[in-house]
Amino acid sequence: MTLDMTAPLPTAGDTAGPVIDISEVRKVYKTGALEVEALRGITLRIEQGEYVAIMGPSGSGKSTLMHILGCLDVATTGTYLLAGEDVSGLTEAELAVIRNRRIGFVFQQFNLLPSLTAWRNVELPLCYAGVAKAERKQRAIEVLARVGLGDRVEHKPTELSGGQQSRVALARALVNKPALILADEPTGALDSKSTADVLSVFADLHAAGHTIVLITHEEDVAEHAERTVRLHDGLISSDARRTGGVFA
Ligand SMILES: Nc1ncnc2c1ncn2[C@@H]1O[C@H](COP(=O)(O)OP(=O)(O)O)[C@@H](O)[C@H]1O
Ligand SMILES: [Mg+2]
Repeated sequence: MTLDMTAPLPTAGDTAGPVIDISEVRKVYKTGALEVEALRGITLRIEQGEYVAIMGPSGSGKSTLMHILGCLDVATTGTYLLAGEDVSGLTEAELAVIRNRRIGFVFQQFNLLPSLTAWRNVELPLCYAGVAKAERKQRAIEVLARVGLGDRVEHKPTELSGGQQSRVALARALVNKPALILADEPTGALDSKSTADVLSVFADLHAAGHTIVLITHEEDVAEHAERTVRLHDGLISSDARRTGGVFA
């Protein structure tokens, strides 16, 4: 396939159909003569605006699924439509373009650059996307204000609390107007106050129509999502939506 770099970007809310549509996805890791089937046939649809937690014991395939959903890796077999676009057979270079344009990542360690101020960290995805300098700064400051850090744009990561650092990471994930926000254990390294802080930002983003997939092993974190998908041994063992406060 060819990628049109000048095409308008689909953002949360302007494409019909599911954001994630994966069918019968399998992932086999080969290490020497050993084969591990980390995903054994996953079929999952996530609609625009959904807030989904993915849970499961260690080794169940969460990270593998996250890497595939985030276009960091491809499935061995099966299909993946991301915002309607088939990304199953893309090359590494094509996947990199999709990642930059469609997905906002939030990692457990935040991966902020310590020597850069908050707004410089947030503008990074726009640098990779080739956005002009003045617009980069303006958009970085706007999105920092959205996550409640309008008065911290010139602070470096070490001058911010854990919760504030995670909000910088969220702002960086949002600045490209991604179709999907993908968070891998975003509260795993935080104390309870910072965890509450981050979860309130996710709740705001969900209320604003963003599609969020959050990987966590903490039940009380997953309870903030409206749907919980559980993995067990490379398969989905349950998929429950919350209706009126209870999962059904
Ligand atoms: N790069 C890899 N090479 C070989 N095996 C892997 C690799 N990554 C994960 N696995 C194996 O795949 C299975 C699922 O791992 P993973 O997706 O990391 O699970 P989780 O994140 O739920 O702990 C495990 O058996 C793990 O050992
Ligand atoms: Mg993992």
